[in-house]
Order: sequence, then C-alpha cells, then structure tokens
Amino acid sequence: MHISYSNLHIFKELAMNKVMITLASIGILLTSGSALSDPAPMYKPGETASPAMAAPAMTGPIDRAKILTAPGVFGAFSTYMIRPDYYKLSAAERKGAAAEVMAVVDKHKEKVIVDAYLTRGYEAKSDYFLRVHAYDAAAAQAFLVDFRATRFGMYSDVTEALVGITKALNYISKGKSPDLNKGLSGATYTGDAPRFAFMIPVKKSADWWNLPEEERLRNMEIHTVPTLAYLVNVKRKLYHSTGLDDTDFITYFETNDLAAFNNLLLSLAMVPENKYHVRWGNPTVMGTIQPFADVVNKLSMGH
Ligand code: HEM
Repeated sequence: MHISYSNLHIFKELAMNKVMITLASIGILLTSGSALSDPAPMYKPGETASPAMAAPAMTGPIDRAKILTAPGVFGAFSTYMIRPDYYKLSAAERKGAAAEVMAVVDKHKEKVIVDAYLTRGYEAKSDYFLRVHAYDAAAAQAFLVDFRATRFGMYSDVTEALVGITKALNYISKGKSPDLNKGLSGATYTGDAPRFAFMIPVKKSADWWNLPEEERLRNMEIHTVPTLAYLVNVKRKLYHSTGLDDTDFITYFETNDLAAFNNLLLSLAMVPENKYHVRWGNPTVMGTIQPFADVVNKLSMGH
C-alpha cells in the first residue's frame, strides 16, 4: 500500500491522539477511583455499596452481593406468559425444561445473575417474571436471547420488558440530606425471609423534571419520612430508566408483609410527589420469590 507523506502525517497525529486519550482515560479512572473512596450509599440499605463502578475482572460466577449494591449496573425486567401449546408437549419433553434453562443460567453465570418469580395466579398477563443484572447490558441481552432459545423460553411470550440502571443516591445523600440519610441506615430488614416481590414502574411528568433541584429534594424528603418505618419489613431497589425505556424508574420490592406493603404504598399515595406521577404501576407485578428451577418446574410439571 502506498502511504503518502500527508497520510503518514495523519497517522502520526492519530497515534498521538490515541496516546493522549489513553493518558486522559487513566486520569479519569484515577480521579473517579479516589472520588469513590467515599461512595454515596446505594438506594438499598443494609448492604454496603461497592466502590467499583466498572465491571470487575471476571474469573468466576458474579458476586451477587456486590452486583446488587453497585451503581452502574444494568437491570432487565421481563414478564412472560406461557403459551397454551406448551402443555400439548409430552410430560417427558416438559420435564427436561428446568435442566435446559439452568444450563443457560450456568453458561452466563460469569456475567449475569438472574432472579425468577412465579406470578401465575396473581397476574392476568404473566406467569412469571425475570430480573437480570449485568455490568454490561449486552451480557444481559445475550442471556435473554439464549433463554428464549430454550424450549421453555420458546413457549413463553414476553408481555412486558423494562430496563434500567442503578445509581448512587440523587437526593437523600450524606451531603444533601444528612439526617434522613442517617435514617436510611438506622434500620434494616428484620422480618422473615421475604416471599413476595413487586415490580412497579414509575414515570414523572415534565412539571416534576422542571422543578428547581431544591424543590425536588424537598419532595423526596417528604417521600422518605413516612417510608423509614417500613425499612424493617420491606426491602427495595431502584433502577433509573429515563432515556433507556419509556419510564423513569423501575422500583423493586421484597416483603413478607403484604399489609405493611399496602400501608407503605398508601403513605406514598398521600405525599405531594404523587401529583407528579404519570405512571405508578401499570403494571404492578407481584410474584413469589423462588429458585429459577422451581419456577420452571411448577409451570412445566405443576410441582
Ligand atoms: C421502605 C420503603 C421506602 C423507602 C425507605 C424509600 C426511600 C427512598 C429514598 C431515600 C429515595 C431517594 C433516593 C435518592 O436520593 O436518589 C427514594 C426514591 C424513590 N422512591 Fe422510594 N422508598 C420506599 C418505598 C417506595 C415505594 C413503595 C415506591 C413506589 C412504588 C417508591 C418509589 C420511589 C421512586 C420512583 C424514587 C425515585 C424518585 C426520583 O428520583 O425522582 N419508593 N425512595
């Protein structure tokens, strides 16, 4: 290939740019590393936030406690309805479904964690839902594509799919609202192991997003005050979806106390923030927390 002087010049400049970019990225990494030595607490209390923003080097299965508390993690929620045709397959064919699904989970375990919930009987538009976490959104997609290629996945229609990412606290942080921030870590879940999970999408109006920062903070403080009493019987996690999906947030909860959960939602229905909600549920998805293999077996074999 003939390279003219001017081309060589361009190549040299490109190479220099590359060096500069690399140096700049190292600088950014170092700065963010030190800024994260005092990371803002994550939305879910009771678990320590991981200082790692970027995906750690993967050498084994993903560390569940870490990925569930780290910021910058991708979360994909999807609800499924099993097609009636599935039950026309022989029992022998359906019997192998759980093993096939678990092989896919195993294949992706270094990049993805998956939680499954049985919704049949509670929901009209789903039999189960999945919550998939990955440091890399493409890894979550790779899992979901493989899952849909299993026999069980093939006979499952997706009835809702929402994605979001986890972030450090925006409002009730040590810096902006120190007392309530303390309150958040003042109590942890003490109830029996939660059996029920809820997924509730939330979208706010343009009026909300155009409020001055101090007013949004004030509203979120008013949101937080009545909720503190529920830290002992409700676990929660927040995903930010603006721009990634047609909602602003995906809220996720685990509880064993449905009356307390109902009261919690009532208390949040009564705060001024609620006037800014253009979506609060729709759908609200309730499921029981179960090992993935159990969900598949129950829906495949009835036990
Ligand atoms: C134990 C119960 C709860 C507690 C302690 C709690 C606490 C909080 C706190 C501290 C924040 C602010 C996060 C930040 O600073 O960025 C927040 C945000 C939020 N919470 Fe809750 N919450 C609870 C239950 C709920 C429920 C039941 C819902 C509705 C389904 C809900 C929906 C939201 C939403 C959508 C946000 C994000 C709002 C925004 O950034 O504009 N929370 N919550």
